[in-house]
Amino acid sequence: MRLKNKVIVVTGGNSGIGLAIAQDFKNEGAKGVIVGRNSERLEEASKALGDDFIAIKADVTNMDDLKNLFEKTHEKFGNIDVVVANAGGGIGEGTFLPFADVDEKSFDAMVDVNFKSAFFTVQNALPFMNDGSSVVLVSSIVTHKGFPGTSVYTAAKGAVRTLARTLSAELLDRKIRVNVLSPGPVETPVFEKFGLPPEAVPETKAFFTSIVPMKRIGQPEEMAKVATFLASSDSSYILGEEIRADGGVVNL
Ligand SMILES: NC(=O)c1ccc[n+]([C@@H]2O[C@H](COP(=O)([O-])OP(=O)(O)OC[C@H]3O[C@@H](n4cnc5c(N)ncnc54)[C@H](OP(=O)(O)O)[C@@H]3O)[C@@H](O)[C@H]2O)c1
Repeated sequence: MRLKNKVIVVTGGNSGIGLAIAQDFKNEGAKGVIVGRNSERLEEASKALGDDFIAIKADVTNMDDLKNLFEKTHEKFGNIDVVVANAGGGIGEGTFLPFADVDEKSFDAMVDVNFKSAFFTVQNALPFMNDGSSVVLVSSIVTHKGFPGTSVYTAAKGAVRTLARTLSAELLDRKIRVNVLSPGPVETPVFEKFGLPPEAVPETKAFFTSIVPMKRIGQPEEMAKVATFLASSDSSYILGEEIRADGGVVNL
């Protein structure tokens, strides 16, 4: 019960890694809010999480939605102890593009959902967060290697990683720790959101699995364990840090 009675907010908590994080937080005694845009998946996920959790529909790239999200959370649960800025990933068509083909529209969409969202999620949360609380930002191991076709996604996730350092420094007096979880390839619906034809999805998953020295794709629950560590006082002396959970992709 490392998060007993802690109030948590997980963006992208209705699917994949975010949902697994919310479930692990629940198992550790937390209560709070999951966030996403898809009402059906939100309802399903919050039912699975039980009475201590509510779902708030919000687009994390929309400033009014973010303001409303944290006001509502505060109204319902009081001050917040943990924020996980996890929402992000693919943008459909235009997720993977050769550098020369990136246009302004896909650039903006990718940066909005993968970096701007995390930046303003934390900014909107801070007035409602307890001193001594914890922020977990979800980046990616793509920031440690050159993967062709990912220039904008990688830059956006790199910006998320650097934000953890700056924010940890700015928030020292409030003892708020900001850290990063960087997953390698993980079995989630993200692969269906790259705008690829359905028949290319298994092939893409297989490619990402083939680059993992452990020769298997990661599970959302394995990411959740890292998030719980970073969210809880188990990581009390860790700040501005990144933990990669990637089956050895970067190191081996
Ligand atoms: N799976 C991997 O291999 C992998 C690897 C490295 C990093 N990551 C990162 O891990 C995070 C979670 O991804 P996942 O793999 O769990 O994928 P996922 O299952 O597709 O989950 C993405 C989540 O983000 C939410 N989301 C996306 N855009 C949003 C928006 N504008 N407003 C609110 N919510 C939004 C989605 O909910 P709605 O659709 O309902 O809005 C969904 O809950 C992402 O940041 C991704 O970049 C994943």
